[in-house]
Amino acid sequence: MIVCVCNNVSDRKIRQAVNEGMRSMAELRDNLDVGTCCGKCHSCAKQVLCDSLQSGEPHRHQAAYAIALAA
Ligand code: FES
Repeated sequence: MIVCVCNNVSDRKIRQAVNEGMRSMAELRDNLDVGTCCGKCHSCAKQVLCDSLQSGEPHRHQAAYAIALAA
């Protein structure tokens, strides 16, 4: 599914970015350009980010998940 239409970023690409170490919307924005145009994708991208962090190793991602939710 395409999350960010403006920059052609899919949920798969966001999950891959999380697997590679990205932990925040700021990192997704800086590396994938998510939300840098119209911004309508922000909430969906944030949900995919949080889901990806939650589905990973719980202890390792717990703090990052809290930070992503607060952003
Ligand atoms: S849909 Fe992501 S910036 Fe427009």
